[in-house]
Amino acid sequence: MTKFVASNRTRDTQTTERMVAPYTPLELESLVARYGSPLMIIDCDIIRAQYRALQAALPGVDLHYALKPLPELAVVKTLKDLGCFFDLASSGEVELVRRAGVAPERCIHTHPIKTDSDIRDAMRFGVRTFVADNVAELGKFVRHRKRCDILLRISFRAEDTPVDLSKKFGCEPQAALTLLDTAKRLGLRVVGFSFHVGSQTATPGTYVRAIETCIDLIDRARAAGHLGLALLDIGGGFPVSYREPMMDIESFCVPIRAALSAMPKGIRVIAEPGRFIAAPSGTCVSSVVGRAERGGRWWFYLDDGVYGSFSGQIYDHAIYPIDCLKTDSVRVPAVLAGPTCDSIDVIDETIELPLLEAGDLVVGRVMGAYNSASATDFNFIPRARVLAINVTADAVTAS
Ligand SMILES: Cc1ncc(COP(=O)(O)O)c(C=O)c1O
Repeated sequence: MTKFVASNRTRDTQTTERMVAPYTPLELESLVARYGSPLMIIDCDIIRAQYRALQAALPGVDLHYALKPLPELAVVKTLKDLGCFFDLASSGEVELVRRAGVAPERCIHTHPIKTDSDIRDAMRFGVRTFVADNVAELGKFVRHRKRCDILLRISFRAEDTPVDLSKKFGCEPQAALTLLDTAKRLGLRVVGFSFHVGSQTATPGTYVRAIETCIDLIDRARAAGHLGLALLDIGGGFPVSYREPMMDIESFCVPIRAALSAMPKGIRVIAEPGRFIAAPSGTCVSSVVGRAERGGRWWFYLDDGVYGSFSGQIYDHAIYPIDCLKTDSVRVPAVLAGPTCDSIDVIDETIELPLLEAGDLVVGRVMGAYNSASATDFNFIPRARVLAINVTADAVTAS
């Protein structure tokens, strides 16, 4: 098995620190004093709470944490201890779950387009279930056909997501049965269907439509003699509230549960949540490194920006709740900018802040998903250190 050099995003620092969110200014200052700035704090208690909330909202659905939004060892271990399954999409993710001691049979590989080495690495680890959405991709599995199961990914376009994954992946529902026939001719074992309606989906309507269509496909496929179908993967996409409130997860899942109740017998349902589990766990603390008055507004420059922990503003289209620790009542119209020389590296141009000085701390919330995972060291400015807190489940104290 290829040994992957862990990137610094997977070299998280774990502490024995116990803190209860949203954390006091003193707690945040003391973490920065000890571990440096900028700092991405990942709270494993919140990971646990989010996992349990989604589990309660989708009873009977096996949750496979999608590693991509927050590929951290502490997070994987935390979820493994709760009995979570895992959704992998690259050989680096395979290596991370292996390091965390996850059993391969608890993992599926869901990237619809893979290299041969992606497939080989996952299979050497012991993963058996893979996703494909077209004939060329099915062809890559012919040589492995005795040892793998395939999920066919179906595309369901959603209008209410900033991240429309069905634009890039998935076959049209009307092409699914033909693809199923092709797979059979190739000697492949198709065990079910999967879809991902898009990330940070505002409403559950597309899930309902997708589940209903998949049920219809399963019925028609079984009638046509495809008797091996036993799995439906309803993907990720479950939303979290950033600055704007989104539906709470219980209300969001009510119509999804109703749609799932019509599932034919013998079908196990799984999901691949990433953001919902990861996002609320992340608190980003950065420091003011300089300031300037330009065009009648104060610009405050931080040691972190859109090339770093705020990369999700660019790639993930998210706008995070941000404030400073300084509590002065007088606030001025301000611009928060990142540390690189690029003009795109501006975090917020419409914020009001006290007159900050070098060393003052700025805190971003709900930043655990798709931020540190896509951060860079552009300009040789190091990305934030990732610090996992509340790593052990015991001794949780309520404030
Ligand atoms: C195949 C797959 N599964 C799961 C996820 C996680 O989605 P989310 O973070 O919206 O839950 C993604 C996100 O890109 C994905 O591509």
